Amino acid sequence: MRPELGVCYYPEHWAEEIWAEDARRMAETGIKWVRIGEFAWSRLEAVEGVLTWEWLDRAVAILADAKLNIVMGTPSATPPKWVVDKYPDMLAVDIDGRPRQFGSRRHYCFSHLGYRREAARMAAAMAERYGRHSAVQAWQIDNEYGCHDTTLSYSEAARCGFRDWLAQKYQSPDALNRAWGNVFWSMEYANFNDIDLPNLTTTEANPSHWLDFRRFTSEQVVAFNRAQIEAMRPHTDAPFIHNYMGRVLDFDHFAVGADLEIASWDSYPLGALERTLREDDDDWKAHFARQGDPDFQAFHHDLYRAVGQGRWWVMEQQPGPVNWAPYNPIPLNGMVKLWTLEAIAHGAEVVSYFRWRQAPFAQEQMHAGLLRPDHENAQAQIEAREVADELAKLGALDHKDAEVAIVFDYESQWAWEIQPQGQGFDYFRLVFEQYRALRKLGLNIDFLPAQTDDFGKRKLILIPALMAWNDNLRKAIDRFDGTILAGPRTGSKTQNMQIPTPLGPHFAGAKVARVATLRPNMSIPLENGGAIINWHEELEGKDAVEKTAEGQTILMRDGKNFYHFYLGGWLDQSGYLRILTDLCAAQNIKTTNMPEGIRQRAVGNKTLLLNYNAFGVKINGQKLPPASAFWY
Ligand code: GAL
Repeated sequence: MRPELGVCYYPEHWAEEIWAEDARRMAETGIKWVRIGEFAWSRLEAVEGVLTWEWLDRAVAILADAKLNIVMGTPSATPPKWVVDKYPDMLAVDIDGRPRQFGSRRHYCFSHLGYRREAARMAAAMAERYGRHSAVQAWQIDNEYGCHDTTLSYSEAARCGFRDWLAQKYQSPDALNRAWGNVFWSMEYANFNDIDLPNLTTTEANPSHWLDFRRFTSEQVVAFNRAQIEAMRPHTDAPFIHNYMGRVLDFDHFAVGADLEIASWDSYPLGALERTLREDDDDWKAHFARQGDPDFQAFHHDLYRAVGQGRWWVMEQQPGPVNWAPYNPIPLNGMVKLWTLEAIAHGAEVVSYFRWRQAPFAQEQMHAGLLRPDHENAQAQIEAREVADELAKLGALDHKDAEVAIVFDYESQWAWEIQPQGQGFDYFRLVFEQYRALRKLGLNIDFLPAQTDDFGKRKLILIPALMAWNDNLRKAIDRFDGTILAGPRTGSKTQNMQIPTPLGPHFAGAKVARVATLRPNMSIPLENGGAIINWHEELEGKDAVEKTAEGQTILMRDGKNFYHFYLGGWLDQSGYLRILTDLCAAQNIKTTNMPEGIRQRAVGNKTLLLNYNAFGVKINGQKLPPASAFWY
């Protein structure tokens, strides 16, 4: 597969006279794919049932003439006003019970069956019109599920749907009462119709109630997405894609991805650094303000490669300053190219820039594009052109499974959001910090869903904070003869989110007797270097490998299977680096200590070396300029 470039384009934002010129300049930039249509509902169906395709037909024809492939988006993220007027109760409701208003986007509730049908009808109409057009080579369903905190909705539609879902799952209120432990605080239900959503309770609602609501909600996203695909499939053979986001974890992406051919995500490295990472670390943010975190993009490239079962794109790549983070710096010259090459080294089939030209109007007028609002090329256009030239020389890349993989589980994210037990416990951050340590060791990393039943030929598997074991994963473990490092918190609950007895983790001969959460200014030093932060477990069992400076067991090994380890704490980076280096060495996995801000990714017999620093670095006698990437 030869990687290609794309761009997001909104013909409806521009005078028709400039479309052909735009298409010509796209082709000249080296772009092969153009995504259109995903917010165009009000121009396609201004009045219910009256469809105006002609302008889009002309836009499609112009792009096709320029030999550009089209990704057509279904417009369900932006239902126009008449749709909301038709279904006033389709609006999502926030946790405080307030309905979302019309006037931006993503105002719908996933559980509303009327809107779900309406969105599927519109998607089918588009597929009927363009599904066999030779230029329409892919579809994007909706846009960024969950963006603007819109996955969870506490609407009447959600309440009714949740009750039905619970009745299906438990069959009798008694079974539900037992599964949730509702004898506690007299919370028992006599009837499924008595059950409310878990918001607006006096103090916290039952964690089992919450977890089922999170599962139900995630399944609504799956069903919403599937309704469009089922309606469209008869009219097209082109692959279906959705554009996921960074660190949006409110629905199970593996479950949505199972219905799609290709996964994609929207990569905004500077916005992400400012808004979603290391919340309190100002020095870090200043150091990487114009480059982005050196691991955040790679993490999601690897995660979405797993979600897409190998096939994935970057659907939106940041091209310059964005408008939505607390601070919006200009990327260092070279970063747009670096981000693009990095995605390609992780296996992206297409990297598509958001957007072609900066819009001078509405919410995103301060958001850069490849072109400025005055039609001049912006810096990103120059870098995209450079990447296109480089890709032409690079040819096809040969991607193989990594030796190391991390099991990633959306349900565990929900479980620990529901019950963090200490403010510092965050599933994503824990996984990310383990991932970061592996990257600092120069490794390629894969992700696997918790439902996997086979680890393949990998040598080291990490299973951090998995809420509950499942049969598939147990099978994968039984079949595997490499090293497994589980913990902390792994296997600490049942599927109903209760504490199992005998106590967990049911792995590596360990038993977690008690847990403590630590304030940010507290840590527990380990005897051989590094420290425990955030989360500490008191372990019982015989086979200790590693202790704290005070002699408490922190890492255990299975007395029978020497390659199974359980780690009863969240470690700082130096702790992870030391332990992971040892585990890799034992499996003959070659590690390299990467200098600060330098990362690498091996592909076939090539390696891409990346300098995320704002200064040049000398490596193996070679000078790596700031914000640059090169193959060796
Ligand atoms: C994404 C979204 C785009 C645009 C972009 C701005 O979240 O999919 O439509 O809003 O962000 O950065």
